[in-house]
Amino acid sequence: MICQLFLSFSLAWLLLKCRQNLAYEIPNVDMEMLNERGFEVSIPDEPGMQRVFYMLQVDGRCPALMDYITQAANGSWTSKQNIGLQNNDKLQISVLVQYNDLIYEKSETRVILNTRLLTTQQSISRIISNRTNAEECQVNLSSEKPLKHCKPASSIVSNSQGTCKGELLFEDNFSGAQLNRSVWMHDIRQRMYHEEEELVAFDDSPRYSYVREGHLHIVPKVASEVTQGVYQLGDRCTAVDSPELECSIAKSSFYKIKPPVYSAQLHTRQTFSFKYGKIVVRAKLPKGDWLFPYVMLQPVSTHAETHYANQLRIAYARGNAHLRSIKQEDISGNRLYGGMIVWQKQEAVQLIKERLNAKHYGDDFHNYTMIWQRDKLTLMVDDEIYGEIYDGLPFFNEKCFIIFGVTVGGFLNFDDNILMNDVKPYKNQQPRAALSFWQSRDTWASTWGKSSAMIIDYVRVYAD
Ligand SMILES: *[C@@H]1O[C@H](CO)[C@@H](O)[C@H](O)[C@H]1NC(C)=O
Ligand SMILES: *[C@@H]1O[C@H](CO)[C@@H](O)[C@H](O)[C@H]1NC(C)=O
Ligand SMILES: *[C@@H]1O[C@H](CO)[C@@H](O)[C@H](O)[C@H]1NC(C)=O
Ligand SMILES: *[C@@H]1O[C@H](CO)[C@@H](O)[C@H](O)[C@H]1NC(C)=O
Ligand SMILES: *[C@@H]1O[C@H](CO)[C@@H](O)[C@H](O)[C@H]1NC(C)=O
Ligand SMILES: *[C@@H]1O[C@H](CO)[C@@H](O)[C@H](O)[C@H]1NC(C)=O
Repeated sequence: MICQLFLSFSLAWLLLKCRQNLAYEIPNVDMEMLNERGFEVSIPDEPGMQRVFYMLQVDGRCPALMDYITQAANGSWTSKQNIGLQNNDKLQISVLVQYNDLIYEKSETRVILNTRLLTTQQSISRIISNRTNAEECQVNLSSEKPLKHCKPASSIVSNSQGTCKGELLFEDNFSGAQLNRSVWMHDIRQRMYHEEEELVAFDDSPRYSYVREGHLHIVPKVASEVTQGVYQLGDRCTAVDSPELECSIAKSSFYKIKPPVYSAQLHTRQTFSFKYGKIVVRAKLPKGDWLFPYVMLQPVSTHAETHYANQLRIAYARGNAHLRSIKQEDISGNRLYGGMIVWQKQEAVQLIKERLNAKHYGDDFHNYTMIWQRDKLTLMVDDEIYGEIYDGLPFFNEKCFIIFGVTVGGFLNFDDNILMNDVKPYKNQQPRAALSFWQSRDTWASTWGKSSAMIIDYVRVYAD
């Protein structure tokens, strides 16, 4: 009897003690997307709350958004931010609450998906200080990640460098004795199998790409024979999406021959990717009929080979020395393009800017620059801005990697809908496009020569 009394007494005491310790716990932060650009975070008011401090960071960008609130309004402690959030944005929320002179802290990470906010991580609300001076805590909280003394950048980088605007994030001068294979990976696969088909196979042989005298050369070569023998890449094949189609040539309605052209494409998917920044590529684009350069960025959630992958095109010009559109426009290699290609239901939406030059872009080296910002894409050649694009950027809400390559043909690259009739030696969707192309090689192979290589002097990426 005594024992039981004692027990219930101590239990009551324990409960009392617990209640005192857990007097306050920061609840989950409410988030609301506002109709106009912006969002709101809030926690409900409770008697005893004195101050609330929010630190909000979107995608790790600096400076973080901070809000110090000294008064509840309409029953809650609310911080309104007028920056728009996009799909896949990661919002880190840290809250400090001063409650009966004790300071509590809690953090949450949320990811935006279709304007909903999914909580991914949450810390437990805890007391971090019983000082009444919240100011001091703010200093400590932000000093967890010391800011460099610089203009903060928006760039997010795979190698987690670059918090300062202008900082060099990636560079290759191609000045080594050979290509640095711990940076660049080759595609080894054929491109002829698909209805968007290009008339080429990519391989890593030094015949098709090599480094010499400080330059990377990507050299397309005409096959010597397309009908004899088999095309089997075996284990060397790098295709992940559809190896059954890209690693060997099987029977299909689209082709019955081996690739008419061999070339190279390389990328940094495994080693370097970034979101937002400035990329400069000093290069000489390829010259020759039906050649087409890839100097672009692609989201890391895709493979280099992925069909219908959205692309940020840093620069391209068709290899042809003479080519006219139906409207009699010059669409030869004198016309430079840059911008983005976004696939919507297997239709390419092209947000492209262009610039017509007096000479072919394969005649000289040029500095091709793309400045990729959250709400703007700027395209430059040498020191001239030739285009600014504001739409489509939410489609590139992730890190992208670099791709360099030279391809041949392609239905989108040389679209029948814009070309004069009968100039192209194959037709879009034609089952035997590659064979037609090969059979008419007398008309195009002679336009290829020393300048058919794409030559890259350097590539540099800077934080922005
Ligand atoms: C509080 O709510 C009322 C009515 O809902 C609204 O008119 C007022 O603007 C709100 N005040 C604040 C500070 O949000
Ligand atoms: C608050 O801090 C004082 C010393 O600064 C300490 O004596 C006291 O126990 C603390 N109270 C709590 C609830 O942590
Ligand atoms: C704040 O930082 C100072 C110095 O870095 C440290 O002495 C102090 O303990 C920190 N306070 C808290 C609450 O973390
Ligand atoms: C690349 O070239 C630039 C300009 O010549 C030079 O400043 C830089 O150090 C070079 N980088 C490397 C890694 O060789
Ligand atoms: C290749 O690139 C890696 C990563 O940037 C670098 O550490 C290494 O020194 C480079 N190798 C050569 C031979 O330049
Ligand atoms: C391209 O950049 C290089 C430095 O990397 C510079 O020397 C050259 O003048 C630039 N070319 C043009 C046309 O702006």
